[in-house]
Amino acid sequence: MNIIVAVENSWGIGNNGKLLDYFPEDLRYFREKTLGKVLIMGRKTYLSIPNAPLKDRINIILSSRRDFKRDGVLVFNSVRDTINFTAQFNSKDIFIIGGQSIYLQFISMCHKIYLTKINHDYDSDVFFLNLDSPSNSKKFDVKLINSIKSVNKGIQLDFFEYSQLETGA
Ligand SMILES: NC(=O)c1ccc[n+]([C@@H]2O[C@H](COP(=O)([O-])OP(=O)(O)OC[C@H]3O[C@@H](n4cnc5c(N)ncnc54)[C@H](OP(=O)(O)O)[C@@H]3O)[C@@H](O)[C@H]2O)c1
Repeated sequence: MNIIVAVENSWGIGNNGKLLDYFPEDLRYFREKTLGKVLIMGRKTYLSIPNAPLKDRINIILSSRRDFKRDGVLVFNSVRDTINFTAQFNSKDIFIIGGQSIYLQFISMCHKIYLTKINHDYDSDVFFLNLDSPSNSKKFDVKLINSIKSVNKGIQLDFFEYSQLETGA
């Protein structure tokens, strides 16, 4: 399985139920990576996406609410039910797309993390695990794939691939 996430300088990923900012280059990257794939997300992230469900992808939502239903998506009530259902797909085609609670529950099952570093400080109320922290016990092979300045804000975006070592997924 894979994770795709965008973090700011302090590894924040969102505030008040929304993304921190919008960068066309990162949205395009997200689309390219996830098109035709299976996406797993939390209910809050799903509800924050304009024009959801995401087209040409299988949208899977996690919610404990048995009555949560939306057209064009699959809803599961537990991580175990989600894993059981997605076992039919190649794990390389499964992307965990957030938010904080879902990333934390799935990260140990993910081999690859597509991580965009937004070189800017934002106020965040949800965070990703700081993979670069010396206290982080997980070990990664880290590759910088691309580095660009966003056209809309002039903020530098670094596109990294973190490949987790010592995991079975
Ligand atoms: N920067 C990025 O790349 C990125 C990507 C995605 C999201 N985000 C941001 O992250 C924030 C949302 O993150 P969040 O942690 O607040 O919410 P979230 O993870 O998107 O959704 C949380 C909800 O998922 C459901 N859920 C989680 N674990 C579950 C489990 N084991 N079983 C059943 N249901 C489960 C629950 O829904 P119920 O309450 O219905 O039970 C829970 O309230 C937003 O600000 C969003 O913009 C950022």
